[in-house]
Amino acid sequence: MRFAKANRIFFARSITHRTFRFYLNPLLKPYLRIIKKSFLNHIAQTSPTPPMYEFVRGDGIYLFDKQNNAFVDLISGIAVNNLGHNNKKVIYAIKKQLDKYSHQMVYGEYVIGPQIKLAKRLSKLLPDTLDTFYFLNSGSEAVEGALKLAKKYTGRSKLVAMKNAYHGSTSGSLSLMSDEYYSAPFKPLLPNIHFAEFNDISSLDIIDKQTAAVFIEPIQAEKGYIPATNQFLQALRDKCSETGTLLVFDEIQTGIGRTGKLYAFEHYNVVPDILLSAKALGGGMPIGVFISSKEIMKSLSDNPILGHITTFGGHPVSCAAGNAALKFLTTSSLMDKVAEKETLFRELLVHPKIKGISGVGLMLAVQLDSFDEVECTMKRCIERGVIIDWFLYNTDCLRIAPPLIITKKQIREVCATILEALDADKE
Ligand SMILES: Cc1ncc(COP(=O)(O)O)c(C=O)c1O
Repeated sequence: MRFAKANRIFFARSITHRTFRFYLNPLLKPYLRIIKKSFLNHIAQTSPTPPMYEFVRGDGIYLFDKQNNAFVDLISGIAVNNLGHNNKKVIYAIKKQLDKYSHQMVYGEYVIGPQIKLAKRLSKLLPDTLDTFYFLNSGSEAVEGALKLAKKYTGRSKLVAMKNAYHGSTSGSLSLMSDEYYSAPFKPLLPNIHFAEFNDISSLDIIDKQTAAVFIEPIQAEKGYIPATNQFLQALRDKCSETGTLLVFDEIQTGIGRTGKLYAFEHYNVVPDILLSAKALGGGMPIGVFISSKEIMKSLSDNPILGHITTFGGHPVSCAAGNAALKFLTTSSLMDKVAEKETLFRELLVHPKIKGISGVGLMLAVQLDSFDEVECTMKRCIERGVIIDWFLYNTDCLRIAPPLIITKKQIREVCATILEALDADKE
């Protein structure tokens, strides 16, 4: 099973790599050979055959290659570029901050204006109990911080996570993931982690008075954008409150408008004790944050002092970018239009090979029959100028997560391309 999965992943990467060669201008081939060689020589590899697409510019929903061919970025760099590429307001904020200063002191000791501005803006948009922010550099770091906070606040060590969750690549976040293919080679990981079945209320019995926290994505990303049911999240909230366990929502992928709300938990009548955000929060710049109440967060400030510190966390330039991006998003109608754009995708993506579409808002997983169909469609799409992707734990689905700025006309165009790609092997 494990080897079969590895082979599928390997095969997918080699297919996409071959595709790239297909559309490349022959005049650029010598250049590509050099840059490709340097890439392979000097950049650490995360798969045996990375696709090695090279885009040199981004604008709106498009990425451009060296020959100025436009490609629709239908995955937003995995849910990061929610405002598209090169948003002018975000760039202005970045440049303005760079002209002032880029770094002063490790997070939390000095008063850093851009961090405060972002925290204030975000806290106005969140429930009162989510008003204290610990900024970091990435999603995985937000998970790590929340792990420590939950243990420190509750004095407990047991943690519960959901089967098939994705929480990141650091040792702590990897410990919260049930998929042995990804975790086995890196063991031992954190002890005392237990897994519940996503959307199965009976499996919540595993949560007890020894449990420090439960980590959950309200919409499981890498399993193929599977939303939690309302009943499940409500039962989970009740169980956590009953046992004094902290409820942690990982909204690293679902956050910043992707589902039509600022955070996906707003679709449910459930508020977490700790909220994790990253990816699109930085407007394209690296950032991560765990958010909680002042009372809970206070437990990290003493005994030991400086028990959780970060040199670059909440980088002023990232915070300035995030603040501009959040202002842009919340003063636009982008989030209001997510639902109708989702409906349009669902209406247009009808094809005998499409077995179903899961997800919420502009995070959609298109279920095909097999991994063969997925890789073939990905190949045909990139040949036609549309970048799509697949999922770590569900290789039979196509990932669609475009920038929220995508217009209805552009949705019609990309859907026509996807349908054409699905028909392509009949040509
Ligand atoms: C739901 C979720 N949690 C955590 C992470 C880890 O974030 P990062 O890659 O920024 O460390 C990701 C990244 O894809 C994610 O989708």
